[in-house]
Amino acid sequence: MGQNSMVVTTEAQNISSLKKEQVPHAIPAPYGLLTPGKVEKVKQVEHGIAIKTTNSYVEILAYSPTVIRVRMDKKVLGKDFSYAVVEKPQSVKTAWEQSGDQIVFSTDSVEVKINKDPFAVAFYSKDGKLINEDIASMGTSWIGEQVTTYKKLQPEERFIGLGEKTGNLDRKGTGYVNWNNDSYGYGANEDPIYSSIPFYIGLHDQLCYGIFMDNTFKSDFNFGASNNRFSSFGADGGEMNYYFIYRKTVADIITDYTALTGRMALPPLWSLGYQQNRYSYYPDTEVIRIAKTLREKKIPADGITLDIHYMEKYKLFTWDKKRFPQPAEMNKELEAMGFKTTVIVDPGIKVENGYPAYEDGTQKDVFIKYPDGQPFTAEVWPGWCNFPDFTSEKGRDWWEEKVKFLANTGVDGIWNDMNEIASWGNKMPFNVLFDYDGQGATTIGAHNVYALQMARASYEGAKKSFNERPFILTRAGYAGLQRYTAIWTGDNRAEDDHMIAGVRLLNSLGLSGVAFTGMDIGGFTGNPSIPLYARWIQIGAFTPYFRGHTAVNTKSAEPWTFGEEVTEIARNFIGLRYRLMPYIYSNFYNATQNGLPVMRSLAIDYSFDNKIYDTRYQNEYLFGPDMLVLPFESKEQFGEAYFPKGIWYDLYTGAVQNGNEEKIIKLAYNKLPVYVKGSSFIPMQSLVQSTQQLPKDTLVLNIYKGHTDNTYSYYEDDGKSYNYQSGDYYQRDFVYDPANNRIILKKKTGNRASLFKNIKLVMHGFGQQEHFSIGGHEVSFKKDFVALLTPISKFDPQGVANPLEGEDVLSHVIKNSDDEIVISIQ
Ligand code: GLC
Repeated sequence: MGQNSMVVTTEAQNISSLKKEQVPHAIPAPYGLLTPGKVEKVKQVEHGIAIKTTNSYVEILAYSPTVIRVRMDKKVLGKDFSYAVVEKPQSVKTAWEQSGDQIVFSTDSVEVKINKDPFAVAFYSKDGKLINEDIASMGTSWIGEQVTTYKKLQPEERFIGLGEKTGNLDRKGTGYVNWNNDSYGYGANEDPIYSSIPFYIGLHDQLCYGIFMDNTFKSDFNFGASNNRFSSFGADGGEMNYYFIYRKTVADIITDYTALTGRMALPPLWSLGYQQNRYSYYPDTEVIRIAKTLREKKIPADGITLDIHYMEKYKLFTWDKKRFPQPAEMNKELEAMGFKTTVIVDPGIKVENGYPAYEDGTQKDVFIKYPDGQPFTAEVWPGWCNFPDFTSEKGRDWWEEKVKFLANTGVDGIWNDMNEIASWGNKMPFNVLFDYDGQGATTIGAHNVYALQMARASYEGAKKSFNERPFILTRAGYAGLQRYTAIWTGDNRAEDDHMIAGVRLLNSLGLSGVAFTGMDIGGFTGNPSIPLYARWIQIGAFTPYFRGHTAVNTKSAEPWTFGEEVTEIARNFIGLRYRLMPYIYSNFYNATQNGLPVMRSLAIDYSFDNKIYDTRYQNEYLFGPDMLVLPFESKEQFGEAYFPKGIWYDLYTGAVQNGNEEKIIKLAYNKLPVYVKGSSFIPMQSLVQSTQQLPKDTLVLNIYKGHTDNTYSYYEDDGKSYNYQSGDYYQRDFVYDPANNRIILKKKTGNRASLFKNIKLVMHGFGQQEHFSIGGHEVSFKKDFVALLTPISKFDPQGVANPLEGEDVLSHVIKNSDDEIVISIQ
């Protein structure tokens, strides 16, 4: 039977109804393609079942009722090892039974139906709905060492996520490769770029599921690209090893995925402030000038980032003695002004006799080598370099020790760059050997996790030697990177479509378990136009990691270099971000608890609303759970907007906007369109110039009238130490309960006192007809006016801005008691 005749009818059928003779067990030569064949044996193992088929070894294991792992190989399954997965299988109730055709393995949530001949897997909900199924004739098959699993395309199926991938929100019709790549000035649709997260979410028929293929080889994902039969995922080597997650909501899938691969640790508060960067600020007087200018111009900021010129001839763990004669003193001076310092580190250690890091690394034998024992040597910024093996404990320990050098000079953040590994020529040989934590791997198996392990070593090192919580940033990574580091999207371009593509990259990272993400605001390569910069800095204020950066040969790109008007716009929006810090920090805290991103694609909360996938609307996102951000290119005068179900309020005017509505909105140069969800809580504070400055002692709690239940978890701690782990935090839930016309500020938890002695309740969407009582006593709220943006002195060219724009609200200040506070509305 030929290859074609083998597949003719199978996809139209439920796999359990396959006729045995339709599928051969192995495709004969010359095709060289191997399918699993039929089930020969099945037995119970811990957490699941093991199956031997004609040509493969399989394990189906329950990690939780909603997470099922499938492992397959042509040979006996090897030692279980993962850089991504940190969760062990829980003890869950499972059952299995077999009939003539089928094995059924089930948990309380999922039924895995395994067709015996040919071996193929399908996942069903307990109420019998088909979630996901192999194309039985293809199943999981091998071509040489390359292994691929083929899943039947379901009607109207959509695919979202897959980490840092360009393209549309719905990835249907496209294919992607995971191979971490140094992508200087990448195209807005280029693939692959820097990092690899082989995890995506599929949606169809009101059902959603996640698939995480934990395989570090170069991998390939096809979501119905150049074919109309399947989605597939595969890798150039290693086991087929995937986790299937079935939950009712996309949010819960992300929560399960981040239980499996870990969640972000609480970052230091300062890392959520604005960071000023360029390639490169030097000498020290220039760094101080930038910091002082930010303060003089009253543009709030928390960080200065030093690029490669701080080092002596780009040599790691050195400071250039002429440019930075007294780095510790400089960092102290910055600290006194409320700035923290982040410095770049690259993995390449210059090959140079007499250079301590090189000599020490060679002596301790930490560098990756060719099979003949010669170190792998490639050219990067400092010239010819060797590279530590971060996949070995020895290599990581060495690096952790080296990180002390940064701690000793008062550095607060570590920016890991060029860790794909990038080198001139961009073609790392395949035959370099890595320890891979005792497993041994060549470049083809280790390449995609090198950056993850570098970030891990930087994080662990910083945790040991920095006094406070460190901030870690990386350019490349692999699934699970959120445990150690934030990520930014590398060398983007100062172009409108790049700004918008960047929004989607961050949204996709958020869908893939990474909450702390950013892009170079203003664009890295090239020079942004004035309107582009103005729009980008506004969007940046609503992204998790907020830094302005630009390449070495570009014009100055600090906010004030774009003229007075843009300086005011930047001051307005960066200031707004600082006023929103209680909301932003709480959102970061919540991400550490449930893995949900700070910047969320609408696909998380409105997964089955087709409109949100429309390419006109796919860039819209929520910043935190409740602020709808509509990013448009700077050239646009009007924007096509979609408001998902519910009720929305214009952030600046409070104007009510109904949900389920498409609308053309007029855009203003100086005002990013942002809306707030009904029933939500937006805690704010007074304007500060740095997170190190104390705000006034009144928390401004904005409450938006709505018709749906909502609970928001508010959080404070000292923002810098680990004391929160031993109870030194302040957390309370805010509950919007429309059915009972109540708003409840629940009793606080944690041992800490709030920073805020008072709470100013600011009621949006409520009118004089409403009466409020607090704790049973009627209270009269007073009329108040809120203006979030200050008028800009030079009126914007489109004449749209209203310098007096603001909102009439009702407000009332109460004492911040730790006990439950009930606000009733009559
Ligand atoms: C890489 C980084 C960029 C940095 C430059 C110099 O291109 O992506 O952010 O400025 O190297 O270190």
